[in-house]
Amino acid sequence: MSHVLRRSLTATQPVIVKGEGSYLIDKDGTRYLDACGGAAVSSLGHDNKAVRDAVAAQMATLSYAHTGLFTNEPAEELASYLIARAPKGTGQGRVMYLGSGSEAMEAALKLARQYHLENGQPDRVHLIARAPSYHGNTLGALAVGGHAGRRAPFAPMLINAHHIDAAYGYRLQRDGESEEDFALRMANQLEDRIQTLGPKTVAAFIAEPVVGASLGSQPAPKGYFKRIREICDQHGVLYIADEVMCGMGRTGSLFALEQEGIAADITTMAKGLGAGYMPIAAVMASQKVVKAIEDGTGRLWNGHTYMSHAVACAGALAVMNEIDSRDLLSRVRTLGERLEAGLRSALGQHAHVGDIRGRGLFWTAEVVKDRDTKQPFDVKENIAGAMHMTALAKGVITYPSQGCADGTHGDHVLLAPCFTSTEEEIDQIVAVLAETISEATAGK
Ligand SMILES: Cc1ncc(COP(=O)(O)O)c(C=O)c1O
Repeated sequence: MSHVLRRSLTATQPVIVKGEGSYLIDKDGTRYLDACGGAAVSSLGHDNKAVRDAVAAQMATLSYAHTGLFTNEPAEELASYLIARAPKGTGQGRVMYLGSGSEAMEAALKLARQYHLENGQPDRVHLIARAPSYHGNTLGALAVGGHAGRRAPFAPMLINAHHIDAAYGYRLQRDGESEEDFALRMANQLEDRIQTLGPKTVAAFIAEPVVGASLGSQPAPKGYFKRIREICDQHGVLYIADEVMCGMGRTGSLFALEQEGIAADITTMAKGLGAGYMPIAAVMASQKVVKAIEDGTGRLWNGHTYMSHAVACAGALAVMNEIDSRDLLSRVRTLGERLEAGLRSALGQHAHVGDIRGRGLFWTAEVVKDRDTKQPFDVKENIAGAMHMTALAKGVITYPSQGCADGTHGDHVLLAPCFTSTEEEIDQIVAVLAETISEATAGK
């Protein structure tokens, strides 16, 4: 019997012993093609030598020195790199390091509160986020998350957070409405909510530039984030960009927000930062936020034992070097075009595929009962679960979820292949997904 408190206490799980390129290999020698990087994590595949060597070399010199007293070279170098590559408008910001996306989101929310206190605005307490969204599993991150199912058991313990609609074109864009008009209508929900709560009481707006697991790789309509930036600036509200899943190259630019032409005040990143080699996350504070603290108390009101871990930072720095030296962002864009074309050709006319959406190497097919009415399957039919197991039986790991349509119903399957995938692997992923969706929905 296992003594690991696993996600499922009843399922038997293969024991993975090795990674090789885009494949994971279990104890019995079964090979699994990783089409989703776990959860959009493993951007460099599973056996990157440069990252492994960098981690081993750092381990051999310095692993840990407490940040209350010391800094270290990998942490400094990585922060300078991220600030230099940040979306225009971030300015001379700073970066703090944490261990997971949820921790980064907690730290971001607290940093927003600190910013307003340093500026003498203690009434700014309200947080506005979107639904659907996912921002992590710790109580603060779960509170701002807009995923009804995941919030439900903990609802009485969550801090107060407000939600507007995520810009979910497939279901919310009206017939005849242009993309720009839809973008404005959705973004103006933020203006309305700020007015309702009282403009001087809102601390921050939180949104993923490309929505991840909760909605399935949903980019924003054109102009959406420009309007969000305007609204936030007008009311002194900070914009926190959650790039935990969509950042670090996944959408074809290092930061997903670069493609929207704005910068956030605070940005979180995690998964692709360590690419699965190191558990590392980061919070980037823009110059505006840093200056408020410098001009105020001069101290960060947040601390964790493992911040700026030298081995984790060295691993992430090696991941960034790999992305640049192998020009993997271009690879994401070209492979992404192939993946999109493959999905549209294999599934575009499928009777149970309502929408195909994404950007870069981040793509989703939303599966519906009735393509004409967009009616989702009943949650109890668990089409997402069926797709997961069907694809796995064919040797391909995908990331299906439920809840995109209304928080409970709505099945989608998300793909986030390694940036280092071959063309043949991308084609195989498409072919297996098409078979999987057909088999999971057969006779339904
Ligand atoms: C957008 C987003 N934010 C935050 C998180 C939380 O990250 P972690 O699971 O590392 O705590 C996730 C995880 O899936 C995520 O997708």
